[in-house]
Amino acid sequence: TYAEEFDQIIINDDLETAQKNLIKSFKIMLEKIKQTAEFIQNIIQETPDFAIVLGSGLGKLQEEVEAFRTLEYHEIPNFPQTTVVGHGGKLIYGILEGKKVLMMSGRFHYYEGHSMQTVTFPFRVFKLLGIQNLIVSNASGGVNPNFRVADIMIIEDHINMMPEHPLRGKNIDELGPRFVDMSEPYNRKMIAVAEELAKNLEIKVHKGCYVALQGPTFETPAEYGMVRAIGGDAVGMSTVPEVIVAKHMGMDCFGISIITDVGGPEIAFTVSHEEVLQAANKAMPNVIKIVKGLVKNYQ
Ligand code: HPA
Repeated sequence: TYAEEFDQIIINDDLETAQKNLIKSFKIMLEKIKQTAEFIQNIIQETPDFAIVLGSGLGKLQEEVEAFRTLEYHEIPNFPQTTVVGHGGKLIYGILEGKKVLMMSGRFHYYEGHSMQTVTFPFRVFKLLGIQNLIVSNASGGVNPNFRVADIMIIEDHINMMPEHPLRGKNIDELGPRFVDMSEPYNRKMIAVAEELAKNLEIKVHKGCYVALQGPTFETPAEYGMVRAIGGDAVGMSTVPEVIVAKHMGMDCFGISIITDVGGPEIAFTVSHEEVLQAANKAMPNVIKIVKGLVKNYQ
């Protein structure tokens, strides 16, 4: 696949060659992004209003979209492939609440071994499709003492603690600037619309800061303590690379997180993947209501 090719290109012991190859690989990457966007554009023929990433908290939203086209990742040229067996991943294009949406079922995590270029590839394609608004969802561990399991947090800000930055390397000027303003990582207007909706629907929501660690281990008690100490309210293993790349390209982002467990230096709770999924499923109906309302009401 293209993703494997890219990862091969940048693995090189000889620094000078590595640097030359890296520059070449960024050129190739831009061509691939354009190629993939063109392929999708030819099929959907329209510009979606929103791209929506269906994370652990939003999976069932795909049942509510009036789907026009479903594209399996393996059908899309250059598209990365998921590493999880049986979960191939797909893009779903259709109508939700009267708006055109492109949904991404199955995302790419850094901890799976993908490069940051692969993790963020779809989002660059989304921008070339003309999509301006991005909605991302995820599951996270809560470190704010007011948070309880299955609570919902609107992401207001983030701290990037991942070991690699998706914009490291030669800047692709065609996509965005070298130095990116991050003063409003999550769109204030979308946050306000979502908060108002939650209030009217009588859904309790928090607002807070999401800290991204690489995973795949859940945090130790001391690590939860660190996340709290640096100003985080929740911690997870996704979302931040996608939002960085989207902001690079001038997109507006909205993020929503389900608190699937709580941790801290004095809280030695165990966390399992099953518990995470259980809590995510419990909160999902309310997250779906908020996201549907946002899609409907945000202009
Ligand atoms: N850390 C802790 N709890 C979580 C996470 C995480 O990364 N993801 C979902 N629940």
